[in-house]
Amino acid sequence: MTTDVRSPDAVTGEDDVFTLAKGYYTARALVALWRLGLFDRAHRDGELVPDAIAAEWEVDEEAVRPLLNYLVVRGLLELTGTGSFRLTPRAHEAWAYRGYLSTMIGAYEPVFARLEDLVTGRAVYGRDVSRSHEEMVRGLTVLEDRMMGTVGDAVLGAKARKVLDLGCGSARMITRMCELDPDLRAVGVDRDPGSCAVAEETVAARGLADRVAVVQGDAFDLASLPADVLDGVDSVTVMFLLHEVLRQRGRAGTVGLLRQIADLVGPDGRLIMVEVSGTVDVRHRERQLFVPEYELLHEYTNQRLAARSEWERMVGEAGMEVADVLPVDMCQSFCLVARRPGELR
Ligand SMILES: C[S@@+](CC[C@H](N)C(=O)[O-])C[C@H]1O[C@@H](n2cnc3c(N)ncnc32)[C@H](O)[C@@H]1O
Repeated sequence: MTTDVRSPDAVTGEDDVFTLAKGYYTARALVALWRLGLFDRAHRDGELVPDAIAAEWEVDEEAVRPLLNYLVVRGLLELTGTGSFRLTPRAHEAWAYRGYLSTMIGAYEPVFARLEDLVTGRAVYGRDVSRSHEEMVRGLTVLEDRMMGTVGDAVLGAKARKVLDLGCGSARMITRMCELDPDLRAVGVDRDPGSCAVAEETVAARGLADRVAVVQGDAFDLASLPADVLDGVDSVTVMFLLHEVLRQRGRAGTVGLLRQIADLVGPDGRLIMVEVSGTVDVRHRERQLFVPEYELLHEYTNQRLAARSEWERMVGEAGMEVADVLPVDMCQSFCLVARRPGELR
């Protein structure tokens, strides 16, 4: 089966290549605007004043202007009468989704810069190349509102008393849940020291050190975590991490981890997981927002997506039943709530 994915205005092969190149340049320029803080500034202040930016950064104004001028050409900025720039309505709409510029482009830039080496085995992901954890966390942080309602409601609805968050990243999710419920305690576990440092900062900034702990450790092996981390846990949240287990530990390893979680939370506890569903049917790939691209980046970064139905099967094999599947307002994501089938309820 072939699918013609040429852009609608590409008439020839040459048009097509240039359209692809334009998309690349535009996306890269927008990533720069976001990383430099100018996307947020334009959204907040209503305008970008190049000479003020240049003075603040102590650079020549001529270094700042070309980026802004290019984004005018591509319809994301427009010039005001006074020579400053403002976001176009299109860019204002895109701003709400700016976290994807990090999670889907910026964080994987080091990976795609060495794609040929990864394909040919000259480089190995995790040894020679890795995505930017810092940028991943930064992107997810601004996308969190899109899943906070769903996941927060699931945790609070389960009347959880102690939540263990596996792969906690910035810990913003668990700290927000603890802010909403003064009787809730939480432990965030992350393998990456940089993420743990950010998580510690979040906890301190929110004054939650007495109820939220951050532990650097391997979430794929619950038995390796200190006993006081696991003690009293009645809910486990795991957001955008299980697909890494699936690739690195295989299906049996993933079911094994889910079984450890089922044993940990006990008969009244809950697993609340957020995942991105992989492609179910190749014929529908083009209608799925970004999924083929998302699958590609996962293939080269030691991660593997699975369809929602496959996650439901693995949860069942781990001795749990699906209590609920809730929509998450993030690209092809879902929130699955599972519990042990129990006689106590
Ligand atoms: C995609 S991020 C998700 C972060 C957070 N759950 C969120 O939704 O914002 C995955 C996180 O899991 C962490 N991680 C990856 N493998 C891990 C492991 N084996 N044990 C603990 N954390 C891990 C990464 O460092 C990263 O912070």
